[in-house]
Amino acid sequence: MKRIPYGRQYITDEDIQAVIETLKSDYLTQGPKLAQFEQTFAKYIGVKYAVAVSNGTAALHLCALAFGIKEGDKVITTPITFSATANCVRYAGGEVVFSDIDPETYLLDIQNVRNLLENYPKGTFKGIIPVDFAGRAVDLEAFHQLADEYALWIIEDACHAPGGYFMDSKGVKQYCGNGKHTESAIFSFHPVKHIACGEGGMITTNNEILSNKLRNLRTHGIQQIPGLKQFNHGPWYYEMQELGFNYRLTDFQAALGISQLQRANIGLERRREIASIYEKAFTGKSYVIRQTGVIIGHAYHLYVVEFSDRNGLYDYLHETNIFAQVHYIPVHLMPYYRQFGWKEGDLPHAEKYYNNCLSLPMYPTLKNDEQNFVIETIERYYRK
Ligand SMILES: Cc1ncc(COP(=O)(O)O)c(C=O)c1O
Repeated sequence: MKRIPYGRQYITDEDIQAVIETLKSDYLTQGPKLAQFEQTFAKYIGVKYAVAVSNGTAALHLCALAFGIKEGDKVITTPITFSATANCVRYAGGEVVFSDIDPETYLLDIQNVRNLLENYPKGTFKGIIPVDFAGRAVDLEAFHQLADEYALWIIEDACHAPGGYFMDSKGVKQYCGNGKHTESAIFSFHPVKHIACGEGGMITTNNEILSNKLRNLRTHGIQQIPGLKQFNHGPWYYEMQELGFNYRLTDFQAALGISQLQRANIGLERRREIASIYEKAFTGKSYVIRQTGVIIGHAYHLYVVEFSDRNGLYDYLHETNIFAQVHYIPVHLMPYYRQFGWKEGDLPHAEKYYNNCLSLPMYPTLKNDEQNFVIETIERYYRK
């Protein structure tokens, strides 16, 4: 059996053709494909504005700056995420406060966040960064209410969940990143994600002023709107008004993104099919502690199963060329965050989850016989 990774990109001839055409055009960076990608993505998510950037980490960084996080500001997030979610707070000089997950959903537990907020004077915390971990949408309606009570902003980290949604209290689908209940959301176009640009990221928002600020910050803080320049020395004149970065996405990456976006729903359907096959295979198995299962609106970036003897299974699968992976090492236990006092025992649900979790192969081009091989190999391991 050939190597089976936990996730991989899906590149077609159409994708390759789209990139080639852009490489032959007049624009390599920030040309017409970028604007088209932003508009197509915004439409797909159901939000007014989308700002493309060089990767998901850059998207988080720009949001942290746009929300004015500064030295000592406290921001709450989950430990079960990729480090970048927390790091953006540090880039801006803020303090990361990790709050434990719900052991059933693996998402930031709203009750824990509420307890945290109640235990400190109002105004202590500035914002929350919930993560649609594995592709499961956070109930942002509930988080919105809580955030309003404490005057907090929300950045939704939706890197795992383009096309994912939760049902709100009126029974309406709320798509991840649609900005209905948050100030902004961010996405990544890393190869294992639903839409791959190689590297790439997107920020979505319904706030026009915020979207303009993000566009400026993406390009060195240079004012993009002519009418808002303070001076005018002549037709050559551009004006840097604040300290920004070069976080641009190239036009050929945007062309790849547009092409990928056309197949996004087909990819989602396939991911959901794979999830339901895993669910059936692992239901009632004695070695399964908990599994993701079939959940409405889940975008299945990952299919996580909590296994007893996870470490032994991990080794066995890797020996068999099945590269299942652990997502994630709790971020508060990273040496960088330990220096701020975080330690084992601080977030018991996240730490327990980490001991058992394994992300099984999940990507649209995973073949049925490959998935069967994964399932059979796991069964074989526990029969030993
Ligand atoms: C939840 C989450 N947030 C942020 C990021 C950062 O995205 P990128 O790798 O595009 O910088 C990732 C990507 O791995 C992620 O999984």
